[in-house]
Formats: sequence, structure tokens, C-alpha cells
Amino acid sequence: MALVTAKELLTPKPQGRAVGAFNVHNMEDVQAVIFAAEEMGTPVIVMASESALKYAGVAFIARLVQTAAEQVSIPIALQLDHGQDLDLLKACIDHGFTSVMIDGSRLPFEENVAVTREVVELAHAHGVSVEAELGRVGGKEDDISVAAHEAFLTDPDQAVEFVERTGIDVLAPAIGTAHGLYKGIPKLDFPRLKEIASKVDVPLVLHGGSDLSVEVLHETIRSGISKINIGTDLKYATTNGIKAYLEENPAEFEPRKVFAAARESARTLVLEKLRLLSIPEHGN
Ligand code: G3H
Ligand code: ZN
Repeated sequence: MALVTAKELLTPKPQGRAVGAFNVHNMEDVQAVIFAAEEMGTPVIVMASESALKYAGVAFIARLVQTAAEQVSIPIALQLDHGQDLDLLKACIDHGFTSVMIDGSRLPFEENVAVTREVVELAHAHGVSVEAELGRVGGKEDDISVAAHEAFLTDPDQAVEFVERTGIDVLAPAIGTAHGLYKGIPKLDFPRLKEIASKVDVPLVLHGGSDLSVEVLHETIRSGISKINIGTDLKYATTNGIKAYLEENPAEFEPRKVFAAARESARTLVLEKLRLLSIPEHGN
């Protein structure tokens, strides 16, 4: 199938099911994510961060994903993740990405609105959907106080204003998750998430979806999350697949065997995650 936009795959009111969005870096990741989704019969969003695109090249990632998508019958979206460099974002649109994320979350509110609005105008003119972030999702390096932590979370009324003034298609609110592995038990603000979901009319995204329990993932979906981003868990699966293979086969030098082990481990992880993103009590 030809690629579709992330907007087409998402609904503001998830019915016990979220769409998985996975960060990829190379051909093996792309094949693992798309072929696992095909096996599950679920749509999937393939994402590439700025650093992944600097590593692999925008054209390579775009062609890899387009080629894999042509071989399956499930809908697939290709999205730039956490875009900040507008030249790179434009290059993604030119190469056929169907969705972009503009991350102005580190900027003051008015500046975040302005840059997001600019990206929406550009992207919509090309039929590309836009995700933006309001509030700050933590990073693995963050070590901040509780007060500072709460100050970074998204204000529901400001979220309404942000969506209205920017015209975005998908919103990433900060509700207490962080990128990378968690240092302790993550404290997610579910009442805040529910309030945001009840006030805005665009689908919501959970960033920092790795290393969360199935209970937490399901509660985020029940509270209004439609898209769940997973990056770190996939990186560990890939690298652990390589380590395990080389431990068992220390003399192996055939790269195809090593990379195939990485791809298989990544595929298994994606299958597991896609299963978790459907809540059984909803009949999914
Ligand atoms: O934008 C990407 C995600 O938020 C990935 O976060 O690496 O913690 O899974 P994660
Ligand atoms: Zn993220």
C-alpha cells in the first residue's frame, strides 16, 4: 500500500486500542516493524528521529519504508520524530514522509505556537499531517524536582488554545513520561491526561512509551491516548539480539547472520508491543 498520514490512522477517541509508533534506524528495523505489523494485521507508524536521519539519510529511510509498505496490505505512516531543524523537516516532506512532528516544546509558549503554525501551513500544503508537543516530556538525563516536574506537564486549557491556534492534527502532551529507561516508578498524571482528552478534539500521543508496564499502557489508552511511541525498547531488542547471537556464535563473521539476529529480535519485540496496545476487555 502507499503510505498514509498518521492523522488517517488515529482517532481522538481510542476504543481500547492505540496505534504503535516505532523509531527506526536502518533496513533491519524498518523490516522488523512493518513485517511484524503485517503479521498482526494492524496499522503502524514508522518514525525516524533527526539523529536517525543524520545517520541513515532521509532518502534511504524514505525509500526503505516506501518499499516495505508496498509489500504489505496494512496502512503505514512515515513520520519525522521530534523535528526541530526546519530544513531537515522540509527534506522529509520532499522525500515523501507523510507526517512530521515539530517539537517546539523547549520554546516559550508563543514561540512554540509560531513555529508549529508555520510547520502546519507548510505540511498541510503538501498533504502531510503534523504532530506537536506542548509541555516537556522528560529525558533520561533529567533529574529534576517534583515542583519542576509538574511545571513541565501540559496545562489542559493551554492545550486547547495550542491546538486551536496551530491547527495541528495530533498533540503530544507531557503527562509524566520520559524518554529512555525509567530510574524509578514513573508517575503519570492520569487525571490531567483525561482532562486534556476531554477538552481537545485531536488524537493524543504518549511519548516515552518504553519500559512501561502493561497496566500503565492500558490506563493511558483508557484515558485517551491514541498513539504510543516506542524507541528505547526497540534499541535494546536490536542490540541484545546481536549480543546473544555473537555469544552463541563467537566465530561468526557473516554480517547477514548478525543483522538477521538483530532483525528477528526487533520483530519479536514489535509483535509483543503491538499485542499490548490492544486491551482485551474491549474485545480487541
Ligand atoms: O519520540 C519517541 C518516543 O517518545 C520514544 O521514547 O525511547 O522512551 O520509548 P522511548
Ligand atoms: Zn518522544
